[in-house]
Amino acid sequence: MTDPIGIRKYDYIEFYVGSAKMVAYWYAKGLGLDITAYAGPETGVYDRTSYYLTGNDLKFVITSGLQPTTYDCWGFITHHGDGVKRWAIEVDDVEAAYAYATSHTGISARRPEKLSDENGFVMEAAIKLYDDTELVYINYDNYKGKFKPGFGESVLEIEVSRKDTGIIAIDHIVGNVRENEMNHWATYFNKTMGFETFIDFKPGDIGTQYSALLSKVVKSAGFKIRNPINEPFEGKKKSQIQEYIEQYYGSGVQHIAIRTEDIIKTISALRANGIEFLNVPDTYYEAMRKRKDLGLEEDLNSLEKLGILFDKESNGYLLQLFTKPTGDRPTFFFEFIQRHGDSQGFGKGNFQALFEAIERDQGLRGNL
Ligand code: FE2
Repeated sequence: MTDPIGIRKYDYIEFYVGSAKMVAYWYAKGLGLDITAYAGPETGVYDRTSYYLTGNDLKFVITSGLQPTTYDCWGFITHHGDGVKRWAIEVDDVEAAYAYATSHTGISARRPEKLSDENGFVMEAAIKLYDDTELVYINYDNYKGKFKPGFGESVLEIEVSRKDTGIIAIDHIVGNVRENEMNHWATYFNKTMGFETFIDFKPGDIGTQYSALLSKVVKSAGFKIRNPINEPFEGKKKSQIQEYIEQYYGSGVQHIAIRTEDIIKTISALRANGIEFLNVPDTYYEAMRKRKDLGLEEDLNSLEKLGILFDKESNGYLLQLFTKPTGDRPTFFFEFIQRHGDSQGFGKGNFQALFEAIERDQGLRGNL
């Protein structure tokens, strides 16, 4: 498998939210990220305000409109609530990646632009993704500033005390799409960026008695980008993916998984910082203790205390845990994941316990 667009790695993720200042505080306090840069009237940007938060290889941009006419922000939020507007991939050559994508069925969202200031220039372009989402190509080779033109020193004068969470980088980003959309978007990734489908969950593979879904995972060469796409499937009651579609009013990003090398430290710190997680049933750990093939380096009691999930894969294992939805609507959430050995999957063995946990919350919302 070759990479036709010169992918380096995941870059930033931009959220459109109702109040960027408040949400930036949550990211600083809860996830332990630093507010590294800021864009707004003080930096010459008058229609919106953005906080740029970083930690190791993680880059998040939290944006709100400042004027009634900042329509791309307010239109998005009115429709979807707080959510992921765009996610970026750092590439060797933005114009080449964009040209490849748009000549292979990619729909243009923004033609290649050279964004300049006294620190040099950044190249950026974007193609469309699910509904109102965008996939950005970016390159900073000729830029020395903190993020990109328009951004300067943060104006927030707060000291946020929090525990170091040890989170490192994006592991995967997941899209939820309507019934019959999954194949379209999997093909779109594969054509526009030379990805390939490497996991295909069929009816009956994933789902509890009630809530079912279909899922395809596309990936770039060398697993630099891996992107699952879910669609609802008919079950006895409403699929959790259907709940997302109805509450988000369309297709979009469901969750972002963040990698750590020490999930016990990460989840301990995140819990101390006030992050809410899904609760796994007690029977989950009873079943784990009966298994002889675990081969865990971590202490099972610590995993149980923190509610961390485990899944064995052919050449390794993974540990993971999911937050509750981070905003007001039951749409977007985070996952934290640690991979051991050559683990490349997504915790299929945990889907049952996980979905039961999601369904309990879905039932409380009256959406089951
Ligand atoms: Fe995931």
